[in-house]
Amino acid sequence: MTTHDPVLDLACRMPKAELHVHIEGTLEPDLAFKLARRNGITLPYADEAALAAAYDFDCLQSFLDLYYACADVLRTADDFRDLMLAYLERAAVDNVIHAEIFFDPQTHTARGVPIGDVIGGFVAGIEAGRARWGVDASLILCFLRHLSEEDGLATLAEAEPYLEHIVGFGLDSSEKGHPPRKFQRLFARCRELGKPVVAHAGEEGPPEYIREALDLLGSQRIDHGVRSVEDPALVARLVRDGIPLTVCPLSNIRLCVFDKMEQHTLADLLADGAKVTINSDDPAYFGGYMNDNIRAVQAAFHFNAAAWYRMARNSFEASFAEPAQKAAWIAQLDAAFAVDG
Ligand code: ADE
Ligand code: ZN
Repeated sequence: MTTHDPVLDLACRMPKAELHVHIEGTLEPDLAFKLARRNGITLPYADEAALAAAYDFDCLQSFLDLYYACADVLRTADDFRDLMLAYLERAAVDNVIHAEIFFDPQTHTARGVPIGDVIGGFVAGIEAGRARWGVDASLILCFLRHLSEEDGLATLAEAEPYLEHIVGFGLDSSEKGHPPRKFQRLFARCRELGKPVVAHAGEEGPPEYIREALDLLGSQRIDHGVRSVEDPALVARLVRDGIPLTVCPLSNIRLCVFDKMEQHTLADLLADGAKVTINSDDPAYFGGYMNDNIRAVQAAFHFNAAAWYRMARNSFEASFAEPAQKAAWIAQLDAAFAVDG
């Protein structure tokens, strides 16, 4: 998209990685109705417009209630493949060349969908998406923190035959009242399996949850982390240790973490030297994909090209790809800035 702001054009055009997107949160109303029809399900909304009109959230939980309800249309491996394909097609438009994609198996296995159909469908979508649009993608299995640690351990056992398709593990869902310390045994087991772990922390929850995610779960990235600014010693630690923060600007506005983008803490975190990345979280529900987030951030903060380079570079450095692959992506990024920057 051409705009009058050359820095924004460059930020939209630059290659980048998306490290915080929930595949269930990419379910657009048209696909939700298509899958509902295909599976003989009646959604409790008259049409796509009525569903979209329900996207009026006042906190994380108000969103999650709808997000889990809509996920009910996902029943077969083909449904999971089609959802993945729709996201990858959209990501390619925004020059996302690598995505590490969260999925919530418990949302599906609790409804009787076999985990093999969930993962098999996603893998088929990733392979087709790579062939069609050249987007590289991998899967991060997220545990739902409103459920018990035992439920998470049972899900991990079910997932073990499919470990080759899973790049890492995460923790999501209702943050308040479900601190990371609830999941220490589960995450120890994930780490024993040789996979990196991440956790949502400091989205609605306090900075203490970020410390727990780091100290008790071994989280290698913090998803959101925007409330870290309330604890300057914690920010100093995040900067010193280069802990990536996968920040989701439009999500934070739609879920009322901040009233206005101008109040978002990402600019201060970036200025402090934190390893900030930009991500879309649940783009179908929050008003946009990667470049919509970039446009909203740029409208509020008017960053220069160096800041956008930094965030894109952070996204590759923070990924769980092999070092040689990261270096190749960063060379692509450098080339985009050498021509345009
Ligand atoms: N699951 C999907 N989106 C989420 C978010 N923003 N926070 C926690 N869990 C989620
Ligand atoms: Zn999230």
